[in-house]
Parts: sequence; C-alpha cells; structure tokens
Amino acid sequence: MKTLQRPEVHTPLPGPKAKEILARDERVLSTSYVRPYPFVPEAGEGVWIRDVDGNVFLDLMAGIAVNTTGYAHPRVVEAVRAQAARFSHVCFSDFSSEPQVSLAERLDRLAGGGYRVYFGNSGTEGVEAAVKVARYHTRRPYILAFTGAFHGRTLGSLALTSSNSKYRKGFAPLLPGVVHVPYPHPYRPPFGAKPEDAGRVVLDYIEHLFKTKLPPDEVGAVFFEPIQGEGGYIVPPEGFLPALQELAQKHGILLVADEVQTGSGRTGRFLASAYEGIDPDVVILAKGLASGYPISAVLFKEELSSWPPGAHGSTFGGNPVAAAAATATLDLLEEGLMQNAFEVGEYLRAELRQLQADFPRLGDVRGRGLMIGLDFVKDPETREEDPELRDRVAEAAFAKGLLTLPAGPSTLRLSPPLVLTRAEAALAVELLGEVLRELG
Ligand SMILES: Cc1ncc(COP(=O)(O)O)c(C=O)c1O
Repeated sequence: MKTLQRPEVHTPLPGPKAKEILARDERVLSTSYVRPYPFVPEAGEGVWIRDVDGNVFLDLMAGIAVNTTGYAHPRVVEAVRAQAARFSHVCFSDFSSEPQVSLAERLDRLAGGGYRVYFGNSGTEGVEAAVKVARYHTRRPYILAFTGAFHGRTLGSLALTSSNSKYRKGFAPLLPGVVHVPYPHPYRPPFGAKPEDAGRVVLDYIEHLFKTKLPPDEVGAVFFEPIQGEGGYIVPPEGFLPALQELAQKHGILLVADEVQTGSGRTGRFLASAYEGIDPDVVILAKGLASGYPISAVLFKEELSSWPPGAHGSTFGGNPVAAAAATATLDLLEEGLMQNAFEVGEYLRAELRQLQADFPRLGDVRGRGLMIGLDFVKDPETREEDPELRDRVAEAAFAKGLLTLPAGPSTLRLSPPLVLTRAEAALAVELLGEVLRELG
C-alpha cells in the first residue's frame, strides 16, 4: 500500500461490503455512535487505509488524532507482539512492573520533570483522575473551564465539556461547581473584542468573576486545552496561557493542561503547552500516546501527591501492552516524528493558506504542527460560521478518498498520522483544492 501514489475509490461509497456491515451495525450497535460518513476499514499502512471493498484512502484524521505513528507501524506492532507474548495483564493498580515504570520515567522527562504519573485507559478517565487530584489536594469545590472545551463524556468530565449541548442533553445533574468562561478565540473574539484583545478580555472576565461571585480561594483548578480541539482547533493568542498561569498561581489554583488531543507530539512539540513556556501542575495525555492502544497518563507535580494507596485506581489502567506501544511510539517521536510533525505541519498550513486566495469562504487556516483547522464561513467579512459547507467539503473529500473530520461548528480538522510526508501533504492539498473548486 505504501507505494501507492493516489487514493483509489473504485466503488460508489459505501461499497457493497461496507453497506452490509453498516446495515448490521445499525441493527445492533448503540444509537449513540456517530457515523460522519460510511467508512468501514479493513487494513492500513502509514497514512493509507483500505476499506472492506478495496478502496484506498489517504488518512488525515488518524482515528480522531490518535494513530501517531500511522497504521501498523512495524516498531509498534513488534512492541505489542513482544509484550503480549510475555504478559498482557497483572493489574498495575496492585502490582508494579517495568514497562509502566519506564514509561512513567520517560513521560516525566518529556514533560519537563517533577511529575508523578497515574495511568488510566482513556482521555475521560484521565480527566476524572485529574479532577480527583485537584479536589483531594486543594479541598476546594470549584473548577474553572472554558466554553467550547471538550474534556470527555463521563459524568465528571462531561461537567467540564461545553463544546456542544448535545453531549449534555438528558444527563443532568452533572458534577457541581464547574464554572465556564469564554475561550479567547482570535478569529471570533468573545465579548465583541478586537482580535488582539481576545486574551485580555477573558482574563478581565475571570478577575471580574473572582470579585463578584466566585471566591478564588475556593477554586481548585482551571482546566484548559492549549489548543481547543473538538471546539474547532482554536489556538489561543500568544501570551494568554502564561497570563492564565500567573493568575492561577496568584490564587493557588492548579493549572491543568488537557493535552489529550494536543499532546504526544501532534503539534511538533511533545506538549503544546511548551510553545507558551508554561509549566502546568497537571498534564493529561491519552489519544496519540500509544498509537491507538488504550492508555491515558495523568502527570501531576510531586507536591500534589498527597493521596494515599487506594484513593484512586483501575483494573486495566496502565495495561502493559498499551504501555509497550506507548514506549515504541515515544521512541519514534524522539527519533524524528515530532520534528516531522512540525515541518510537514508548517508546509501544509502554508499550502492551505494559498487555497484561501481562490476560495475566500475558507475563512481561517490555523493550528500548530499536524493539528490544523480549516474554518468555513458564509462571508469572510462577517466570519459567520458555515457548518453546511464544512460538511459538504468533508463528504466530497471522502468521495475522493481523503479522510477528514469536523470539529466545532464550522471547522474541518486535519489531524493526520505524524508520519505524513511532504509529498503526501502536497497530494492532500491538491485533493482539497479540487474539492473546493468543485463546490465553487
Ligand atoms: C482534549 C480532550 N480531552 C478529553 C477527551 C476524551 O477522551 P476519550 O474520548 O479518550 O475519553 C478528548 C477526546 O476527544 C479530548 O479531545
């Protein structure tokens, strides 16, 4: 599959085998699953993935920003095989073993040092653990979070999530004490502010809340995404995160970076927080950490480690096979994939910005590394969101053999495996250009 030059779609989509599986899926699977387009995978290699009907797609979504090293990277496959042949479970909550200990040491180093590590299985579990660390350590009842945030869908993390009310509808009451403030979106600044004031007005608003209704010494933590993910791939203005850190430190509030989507090298640095030089008290990793194997890691500063044995744990958390996949992934990231994400990401964003000239309804191209958002608008002057156009672009791209995903109201997200080459990125731009021209 690697030698393939272009995607190959030779059946109408979905093809006959995909259709049959999707019909069975519809009868037996939970109606809560989303199927943005009818893609049914069979096998993949690198950034290429074949469906059950033999159609081959260029993947710019990586299973929602997960498959860091691409499909079936031989080093990850070998690490998984070797660990599975030794032992696949003993329960790390009760018994220590080397794969997880060395992974924790590695994560502490990559995040800048001074952390202890708790392992879970998913992003939401990581967020739940971080909430408990903050609660236990500070004993403060309130948490600050941002509108547009996505932190997961279990009842605790759901209280922090605010990217779409559909996630909450029917599930109240949620964890109490969560207060949301606007995220400083430079393209659509809150409170009608100018783009250059987007960060300042949010910080002023937090200060205002602290004075009028939210006692800052009762706020335990502020949870934030260094680039908002599901909310629309939004990069906050430069200087906002350091100012947030300063404000949090002034009031003894823990800074919790949800790097579930931004972390593990996706932005060209191990943590996206590193771009702004901040030092979060807690960092949450999941998604891309193990190239598709389920694991999450919560890194929290040594001084927050006051909880006793048994205060938190999980049967499967820190599964050794997933830990081995994570270690192989980190090896590859440090050997060059992180740098590749940075370089190919810069190239891809520059090329996509060229498309804007011919297609002004592609209102904004933004991101860092290989975390790129294309924001579609009804009118570049008003910047009014155009969800229908975004959805039509995603569907037309799929028909051409290009996998993308929506994020936020009107953004198409590109979150390819970090093995994407410059030539593959150029091909993706060519195909997206064709899509935009066809949609006029
Ligand atoms: C920033 C962020 N946090 C948490 C989560 C939840 O992760 P999971 O779906 O693994 O529970 C996600 C998932 O998209 C995410 O993007």
